[in-house]
Amino acid sequence: MSLNPVVADWQKQRVWVVGASSGIGHALAQLLLQKGAMVATSARKTGALVELASLYPEQSLVLALDVANEAEWQSAYQTIAGHWQGLDHLIFCAADYQPMRAWELDTGKAANMVNTNLMGIIYGVGAVLPDMLQRKQGGIRMIASVAGYMGLPKSLIYGPTKAAMINFAEALYLDLHDKGIGVSVINPGFVDTPLTKTNDFAMPALLTPSEAASAIMQGIEAGQFEIHFPKRFTRWLRLIRRLPYPIRFRILAEVAKKS
Ligand SMILES: NC(=O)c1ccc[n+]([C@@H]2O[C@H](COP(=O)([O-])OP(=O)(O)OC[C@H]3O[C@@H](n4cnc5c(N)ncnc54)[C@H](OP(=O)(O)O)[C@@H]3O)[C@@H](O)[C@H]2O)c1
Repeated sequence: MSLNPVVADWQKQRVWVVGASSGIGHALAQLLLQKGAMVATSARKTGALVELASLYPEQSLVLALDVANEAEWQSAYQTIAGHWQGLDHLIFCAADYQPMRAWELDTGKAANMVNTNLMGIIYGVGAVLPDMLQRKQGGIRMIASVAGYMGLPKSLIYGPTKAAMINFAEALYLDLHDKGIGVSVINPGFVDTPLTKTNDFAMPALLTPSEAASAIMQGIEAGQFEIHFPKRFTRWLRLIRRLPYPIRFRILAEVAKKS
């Protein structure tokens, strides 16, 4: 059963990809442009955004944005609304990831992750939702992570930000599904991007950014609420999450020893 309105055609859909300067967001923006969507891209560094936009000048807007800054969200959205009279999809891909064990807790790095990953999407929804509610149409899509499924080694703060995003998306869905607004939470496994470059452990079932982008597009098109991939990896985590704590912790302690 599809929980959201299906997206049959991206042609002329107005999409804002936030966190599009590298990795999954960049691949998504590319794919959307190839499919004929109007694409606004944002990140703090705009070099890669401008380069991509130059290939599709009629379809592109570039807006520098620090997602941890609410005023910048409001102003960037006003620019989009000024050009396109509204927005069909917000796709939030920005994140800060700092691997951390308990004895490495750094509250400054933690605050940055919370402000980027969680406050970022909250400010984003605050910027785009009023117009979507008025038009009774729109889509809010956010990339969380399987790290949000449960406490995992090295995800001391990143994991809780992603768990909170999943919870936020669920609550949004409950409030918005009968108001014409689609909500999707995207939980990828490992993807080969700058974010995971510093991981010093083997990443099973690693995907390329364009494989991840295709999986996300297919999920949105099909109207899925949760889009998780690759299934050969995420199914295991979903199973481990359901185990009683003593068994789950024993398995994860073994994983922690290897990472
Ligand atoms: N790679 C994986 O294995 C994996 C797995 C699960 C979930 N995810 C999630 O997938 C999403 C995309 O990650 P990725 O792997 O593609 O990482 P990435 O290549 O590092 O991309 C992160 C993007 O976020 C932007 N960003 C970071 N802080 C920002 C800020 N304060 N304001 C605006 N933009 C900001 C970065 O641009 P600037 O630095 O230019 O601002 C960049 O465009 C993230 O939500 C990540 O948590 C990734």
